Amino acid sequence: MPVILAIESSCDETSAAVCADGNILSNIIANQTIHEAYGGVVPELASRVHQQNIVPAVQQALLNAKVNKNDIDAVAFTRGPGLLGSLLVGVSFAKAFALAKNIPLIEVNHMQAHVLAHFIGDNKPAFPFLCLTVSGGHTQIVLVKDYFDMEIVGQTLDDAAGEAMDKTSKILGLPYPGGPLIDKHARSGNPDAYKFPEPQIPGFDFSFSGLKTSILYFIRDNVAANPNFIEENINDICASVEKRIATILLNKLRKAADQYGITDIALAGGVSANTGLRQGLLQLGEKLGWRTFIPKMEYCTDNAAMIAIAGYHKYLKGEFIGQDVAPLARMPF
Ligand code: KG4
Ligand code: ZN
Repeated sequence: MPVILAIESSCDETSAAVCADGNILSNIIANQTIHEAYGGVVPELASRVHQQNIVPAVQQALLNAKVNKNDIDAVAFTRGPGLLGSLLVGVSFAKAFALAKNIPLIEVNHMQAHVLAHFIGDNKPAFPFLCLTVSGGHTQIVLVKDYFDMEIVGQTLDDAAGEAMDKTSKILGLPYPGGPLIDKHARSGNPDAYKFPEPQIPGFDFSFSGLKTSILYFIRDNVAANPNFIEENINDICASVEKRIATILLNKLRKAADQYGITDIALAGGVSANTGLRQGLLQLGEKLGWRTFIPKMEYCTDNAAMIAIAGYHKYLKGEFIGQDVAPLARMPF
């Protein structure tokens, strides 16, 4: 019954989790609010705050799990992709802990871990399944054939879906991160009030930069005619943007599901917290006879529980990494 300590520090969340025999015992996530004032994550500040938060996060994770540090069998950590300075903090901590306790190290790919978050708990998809991973940095349709046999069949050619949410909110004068605020306003708005274009990209790939530009021009032109345009219509604007982003994502997902003949469909990453996207997936799934899977909110955004579950499955395969491991800002599957 392996007990695994997991560390996640790829962006602006410092997270530590403990799992025993594949069951998550604790999942501590320390959010960094310092970036709000800058309208986006400042890498230099992120790594400094990780440095402050990492030890308290691990201590709390051990405490909540009621596990002594001497009972840890292996340390799993995010090796990449992510911000190099942020990753360095987590990787260095994991190496030091493993060295001190003379236990093995397990490297985890952050994007694979988002997919493997679906193996926390009982409601698991069956292989092969498709996972739409949508976050602030990535937009991917992943064909998941086995725990570590994954193929990216579609991805963004420019901005990520979360970036499109955050950039739209910036245009509207909302604070960072804007995704949750767009979601909040959209709940009281009319999603058909304004029509934004759907990019025509071949295959299963995405593009969001054209949408961003069209939103920018739409706002600029309307504010020129009515300086109060944003305040008067914020709910309808957010609902219309959210609907367009969700339909871009879901139309491609549907196309991929048809092509690969797959009916187990999963959602992962921070943007899967979005109400419109979740509802859209559930409705589409009902119509097409899909089994749909959306992780609990705390396992959608960046967290160490998903690193722990990925680490557990690597532990079972005996896949360990040496002490000379270094983080990778870009880490392919
Ligand atoms: O996966 P995540 O926590 O971090 C990255 O690895 O990027 O995703 C963060 C992204 C941000 O762009 C944020 O605005 C977006 O997820 N997000 C949302 C919602 N909650 C978070 N976007 C739309 N609606 C939400 N409710
Ligand atoms: Zn992530």
